[in-house]
Amino acid sequence: MNFIWFQVRPFGRLLKALHGFAYNFKRFYSYAGWRSNMKDIEQRNYNAAKIYHSLEKSMSFKNRRKGAGWSDAYALLELLKVAASLGELGYHDKAACKLLWNFIGLEENSQTDQATYIKSELSKLDFSSLDEHGTRVYTAVDFQRGVLESPEAFFLSRYSLREFKDELVSEEIIKRAVSLAMKSPSVCNRQAWHVYHTTERLVKDAALRYQAGNRGFGDRIPNLMIITTDLKAFMPGQEHYQHWIDGGLFSMSLIYALHSLGVASCCLNWSQSPANDKLLRALVDIKDNHTVVMMLAIGWPEERNNVCISARRPLDEVYTRLKVRSGGYK
Ligand SMILES: Cc1cc2nc3c(=O)[nH]c(=O)nc-3n(C[C@H](O)[C@H](O)[C@H](O)COP(=O)(O)O)c2cc1C
Repeated sequence: MNFIWFQVRPFGRLLKALHGFAYNFKRFYSYAGWRSNMKDIEQRNYNAAKIYHSLEKSMSFKNRRKGAGWSDAYALLELLKVAASLGELGYHDKAACKLLWNFIGLEENSQTDQATYIKSELSKLDFSSLDEHGTRVYTAVDFQRGVLESPEAFFLSRYSLREFKDELVSEEIIKRAVSLAMKSPSVCNRQAWHVYHTTERLVKDAALRYQAGNRGFGDRIPNLMIITTDLKAFMPGQEHYQHWIDGGLFSMSLIYALHSLGVASCCLNWSQSPANDKLLRALVDIKDNHTVVMMLAIGWPEERNNVCISARRPLDEVYTRLKVRSGGYK
């Protein structure tokens, strides 16, 4: 009986995986940006970011191809006209507008017919961004400002903490950490993150109800976050996993941002069954198009903490110098 059970069990797991894929596909079908509905403010803004980032990149190259970027410039103009006609603007709408002004103002572009046309169309729009967009000079000295005196001291002093002081981390510090984490790279700078935060007991209990990994400490978590990414930012084809990737990068940045501010945290897994994901959504108010990447328990560390050592594997188990396969590349 036991033998048969062990033979059959892996197939049961595969079926569960299939169910999970189907659930993710259904969510992607329902909420991802593949319909390219530019009247939807979020879809349009992610699209605008994708296009203006391509222009921004082209503007940053040392050897810019003359005449490069005009098709993107026209595409952006069309999006801006949609934004203007609807009157509801997002950050990327405004950024795209400012970027387009900068693009047509480039020395090599400004005297062209295309620039004259785009300028006349842009002049009809009454919005732009207050931030800088385009390119900036960044020197080796600027870069040096990020070099840590002791990287080991920073990285190796972070541990997942599961017991915290009985004291909340202020909204101000939480927001500062989120702002720092926003400097994370994301595909085409779309920044499809959304963070939900609570300190209320009732909300924390509801959010943690189906999260198994908080047993033994969940009732003493001061601040709780749910980190999500917006499916609307992503297209089918190559991007169906991008929300997990960008969400994972952001999550790690957030953990390090908190660490840099002296705040402790512990990731709480949300690799969940479709049933539990639905149960969570029935209990707390997370937008349908937001995919839960993970939860994060946050708090001030106690004077003395008992942490898991969680030793790391030796480097040679995870690091290999990449080589070309013999005969594989001609
Ligand atoms: C995505 C993710 C999910 C995790 N989920 C849980 C969890 O549910 N409960 C928990 O106690 N720890 C959780 N952890 C923390 C890991 O156990 C921890 O990061 C690991 O053991 C390494 O230890 P360290 O963070 O102290 O270096 C999670 C970590 C990650 C990255």
